[in-house]
Amino acid sequence: MLLRVPSKFEVFGLVKFYEVSEVISLNSMGLSGASGVFGLGRDELYDVASKTAIVVPAKDEDLWAFEGVIRAIPLPSPLIVVSASSREHVDVYSHEVEVVRLLSRLTGRRAVVVHQRDPAWVEVLSKTGLRSLIDGEGVRYGKGEGMILGVLVASWLGASYVGFIDSDNYLPGSVVEYALAFYTGLAMAESRYSMVRIAWPYKGKLPATDEVILRKKGRVSMHTNSVLNAALSKLRRIETEIVKTANSGEHAMSIELALRLPWAGRYAVETYELVSLLESCYVNVEFRGETCSFAPDGVKILQVETRNPHIHAEKGDEHIARMAAESLGVVYHSPLADSDLKVKIRELLITNYLYEDEPPRPRVYDIVDVDPRKIVSEYLSSSKLAFDSQS
Ligand code: GDP
Ligand code: CO
Repeated sequence: MLLRVPSKFEVFGLVKFYEVSEVISLNSMGLSGASGVFGLGRDELYDVASKTAIVVPAKDEDLWAFEGVIRAIPLPSPLIVVSASSREHVDVYSHEVEVVRLLSRLTGRRAVVVHQRDPAWVEVLSKTGLRSLIDGEGVRYGKGEGMILGVLVASWLGASYVGFIDSDNYLPGSVVEYALAFYTGLAMAESRYSMVRIAWPYKGKLPATDEVILRKKGRVSMHTNSVLNAALSKLRRIETEIVKTANSGEHAMSIELALRLPWAGRYAVETYELVSLLESCYVNVEFRGETCSFAPDGVKILQVETRNPHIHAEKGDEHIARMAAESLGVVYHSPLADSDLKVKIRELLITNYLYEDEPPRPRVYDIVDVDPRKIVSEYLSSSKLAFDSQS
């Protein structure tokens, strides 16, 4: 893949946001293009791919879509499925494991599948700083909670980078593109603390309704982006539209960043990655004279606009309203938002999502003081549900 090297960036304290870079060539096969574009040679591409673990969160998605995602993730990247799928009535989880097991057997790919509600987590995590993740029966439901388990497994596998790709992607071709954008973007950033977030050119829904099929932007992300940009514009007193990826499920980062970042639960997770960085490395640094834990390197955030449309499952208005509230709740409860912006967030939730309550405050988890290797090896040795291609 060849990416256009972004020519502009904006700095907020120690957080550096790059303008969106486009995909110039989807498949450069190791050719490097001219100046102004960046691409990896074949060997380098293979090297970065093998150091990037890809986490796929799954909760009762269409098995066909799930299998397409699994087959699309480039083979050298270790695969980590974190599932919260049902095990009763229809045992969706056992189907997911079977899909991964068969593909691992055919391809030799490194893969680990874990279940979020596995009781084996309870004993392992209750002794650690992550005990708030558990609710008695297993790890709490929630996409963010699942992603944290994914980061722990990625660290246990020795990965240098961790990427996330949703399991409800109906186009395997877009999954291939996300992975290539992660590898290329992370290599281009060349930084200890870096992140690559996907900006969608078009976002669609399946099944197609009588509405527009390909939308220019997702509804919720449009609102979260504009609220975050409004907050930043006010704080810096220079108007900005730099944030285009506040809700991107598809994103990747260096493992060092992932392990130091505080994580939020449920659908607050993606927005909170940006908000927590902006709180600790911008607001607290610039206005309170504190230092942030990513000093002196700072954090680079790349945004890549892929060519394939993002087609994923349609989950209904109520789901979207909950997601919007959890995501906007992150900004609402942050020092980034002043009282005007809080009013605006409430109005936006009512007008667009018929959501009248105060948006929820995110539940936040710290993984900086836990030992991922110990946690994951203890979990895998006691779990009756997990799958590890190497055992
Ligand atoms: P949207 O694409 O932003 O509307 O969000 P989705 O509802 O599609 O969720 C994104 C991804 O997270 C999908 O692959 C879901 O299957 C997955 N997911 C949702 N909730 C959970 C959960 O509680 N645990 C795990 N492990 N995955 C989840
Ligand atoms: Co989705």
